[in-house]
Amino acid sequence: MVGVTITLREITEDTVDAVLAVRTTPEQERFVSTVAYSLAEAEAHPEGNPWFRAVYADDEPVGFVMLSWEVVPQPPDINGPWFLWKLIIDQRHQGRGYGREVVRQVVELVRANGGTELLTSHVPGEGSPAGFYARLGFVPTGELDPEGEILLRLPLQD
Ligand SMILES: CC(C)(COP(=O)(O)OP(=O)(O)OC[C@H]1O[C@@H](n2cnc3c(N)ncnc32)[C@H](O)[C@@H]1OP(=O)(O)O)[C@@H](O)C(=O)NCCC(=O)NCCS
Repeated sequence: MVGVTITLREITEDTVDAVLAVRTTPEQERFVSTVAYSLAEAEAHPEGNPWFRAVYADDEPVGFVMLSWEVVPQPPDINGPWFLWKLIIDQRHQGRGYGREVVRQVVELVRANGGTELLTSHVPGEGSPAGFYARLGFVPTGELDPEGEILLRLPLQD
């Protein structure tokens, strides 16, 4: 992270191909979908109020993040109002603090818009992002979603 600036940028016609090239490792594809699939999901589920951005390290696309943005919760299918739906850091750029910085920036945005907690979920199992989320302060709510994903909550109140 030293000397690198992480920004969340809108995806445009000019940048979409570079953002679609962002990839996890094949083993991690059990835990998160590709950028292409995530964009298709956003299109297919307007009821989830998808908000997404490409993650840039300086001027290089290195990831993708998608939220349910102030959605009306309809559990168990739609969690919210603020739900971290996708987080992808390209395999060549993992382990440098970029994922942590993206969550920090997302938390700032959510707080600025009045959110008091950020929810997320993950597929359980070997190689899952459970440890990543735990380090950032997310705690399991004790619930599973209909797909068996573990629901997590990050309280944002001081
Ligand atoms: C999970 C992911 C977003 C983490 O991003 P990253 O940029 O590699 O993570 P960071 O470098 O910011 O890590 C922050 C901290 O979490 C730890 N961490 C990262 N991934 C971890 C994992 N899978 N298990 C345990 N700890 C992990 C790091 O060691 C670091 O710890 P530190 O506080 O000691 O420095 C990224 O690895 C990824 O895209 N994985 C595949 C997709 C995925 O599972 N996404 C989540 C979908 S729900």
